[in-house]
Amino acid sequence: MSNKQQGSSRREFLQTTGRVAAATALAGVVVPRVHAAENNTIQIALIGCGGRGTGAAKNALSVTNAPIKMVAMADVFSHRLEASYNGLKPQFEDKIDVPEDRKFIGMDAYQKAMDCLKPGDIAMFTTPPAFRWVHFGYAIEKGLNVFMEKPTSVDGPSSRKMLKLADESVKRNLKVGVGLMCRHCKARKELFNRIKDNQLGEIMLIRAYRMSGPIVTCFSERKPADKAELPWQIENFHSFLWLSGGIFSDSLVHNVDEACWMKDAWPVKAEAIGGRHYRGNYIDQNFDSYAVEYTFADGTKFYLDGRYEAGCKSDHSTTVQGKKGIAVVSQAGHMPSKARMYRGQLVGDQNDKTTADNANLMWAWGDKEPNPYDLEWEDLVDAIVNDTPYNEVQRGTQASLVTAMGRMAAHTGQEITYDQMLNCEHEFGPDLDKLTLNSPSPLLALADGSYPVPQPGLLTKTEY
Ligand SMILES: NC(=O)c1ccc[n+]([C@@H]2O[C@H](COP(=O)([O-])OP(=O)(O)OC[C@H]3O[C@@H](n4cnc5c(N)ncnc54)[C@H](O)[C@@H]3O)[C@@H](O)[C@H]2O)c1
Repeated sequence: MSNKQQGSSRREFLQTTGRVAAATALAGVVVPRVHAAENNTIQIALIGCGGRGTGAAKNALSVTNAPIKMVAMADVFSHRLEASYNGLKPQFEDKIDVPEDRKFIGMDAYQKAMDCLKPGDIAMFTTPPAFRWVHFGYAIEKGLNVFMEKPTSVDGPSSRKMLKLADESVKRNLKVGVGLMCRHCKARKELFNRIKDNQLGEIMLIRAYRMSGPIVTCFSERKPADKAELPWQIENFHSFLWLSGGIFSDSLVHNVDEACWMKDAWPVKAEAIGGRHYRGNYIDQNFDSYAVEYTFADGTKFYLDGRYEAGCKSDHSTTVQGKKGIAVVSQAGHMPSKARMYRGQLVGDQNDKTTADNANLMWAWGDKEPNPYDLEWEDLVDAIVNDTPYNEVQRGTQASLVTAMGRMAAHTGQEITYDQMLNCEHEFGPDLDKLTLNSPSPLLALADGSYPVPQPGLLTKTEY
C-alpha cells in the first residue's frame, strides 16, 4: 500500500472509529483501545535511545489524535537501550511492544528496527546528527514517515545530502518532522503573525544568546586507555565536529531557527569570533565562546552569542527589535517562550506588573503555553492521519546550514557566505553509511591524545 493510500485508509478508519467511539460513549461504553488499534495503529521505532530519544518517545506515545505503539528500538549501546526501555515501559505499558527480538544493537541496528515497520509508520532518529542522512535514506527506501532531531546536518556535504533526500521524501509524500519544536509553539506562531502584520515595524536587529556553563558532553578530557576510539567519541558526541557540528551547532540551531523564522529569511553571510579560554585538560574541538554577526540580504543584522564557561552570566533568549517596538521570542529557554511585544526598545518584566515598562506592553501570549515538544508530535500525526503535506527537512537543514555557517566563520576567522557553506567540500565524516563500531573514527587523535582544533586565520579553508 502506498503511503498516500495508507494515509487515507487511516483517515477513513479514524473517522469511522471516531464516529463509533462517539456513539458508544453516548451509550456509556468504553471502546477498548485494542479494537481501535487493529491494523491502523501507527507503529514507531526509536533509533537512538538516549535522553532526547526517550523524551521524544514519551511525546510520541502521548499523542491523542491516533492510536500509536512503539514496536522496535535501536542503539549502538545496549545499556542505553535498556535504560530507555525500562524508563518508558512502566509509563506506557500497553503502548510499548518491544520484545527482546525487536531490540537491536550496533551500527546496523537502525535498519533492523526500520525493517519492523510498515510503510506509513514512523521512524524516530535521535542519534547524534552525523547519522541523519544515512538513516533518512533508508527510511525513504522503506516508505516510512520520520521524526528526526535537530541538527539535520553538520557540514556542507551532509547538508547537500539532506536537501536531496528532502526532495525525494517530498516526492514520495512522506511526512517528516524535524525537532525544531519552537516552530510549533503557539505563542511564537502568534508573534510571527503579528510581526508579519507589521505591528513591530520593519525589523532592524535580532539578538540571540545561549550562555551557560559547560553543557552535555561539550568538554572532554583525554580518552581513557581502556575505551575504543569510535564508541568513546560517539558517547561524547558534542565534543567532536564530525558527530554533532560541535556544541555550537547542537545548542545554537534553535536560536538561529527562531530568529530567522521571525525575519522570514535566511542570512546570506556570517562573520564571527570565538576562542578557547580555559582548556585545562580538555581536548575536544569546541571553542568555549562564540560571537556571530549574521547579515540578511537587506542588510539587517542578527547577532548570536554562545558561551559555555562556568561562572559567567547565563542567558538563553532571542529578541527582535523593530522600528516600532521590541519582541521577546524566547526569554529563558525553549518553553515557556514568554513571547510578547513592547512599544519602544525596552523589555519589561512580565512577572512584575508594576514596572513602568509594562505600560508599553503591546501584546503578550500570557501564562498557559502548550508544550511544543508535544505539539510537534500532534502536528506530525495529524498530517499522517489526514494525509496533508508535511515535511520539515528542507527548512530544518537550512537552519542547520546557517548555524554551520556561523560556526565556520568563527573557526576559520573568515567571512562565510550561505553559498560557500552549502558548497563547502570539507566532509567531516565521509562514508558514514559504511561505518562499523570497529572502524577507525573519521577523526583520529594526535600523538598526545588531543584532537585537531580550529585555528582562525591559520586554517582558513577548513575548520580543522
Ligand atoms: N530538540 C531539543 O530540544 C533537543 C534536546 C536534546 C537533544 N536534542 C538532539 O537529539 C539528538 C540526541 O541527543 P541526546 O541528548 O539524546 O544524546 P544522547 O547521547 O543522550 O543520546 C543519543 C543516543 O544515540 C545512540 N547512538 C549514537 N549513534 C548511534 C547510531 N549510529 N545508531 C543508533 N544509536 C546511536 C547513543 O548510544 C545514545 O543512546 C541530538 O541531535 C541532539 O541535538 C534535541
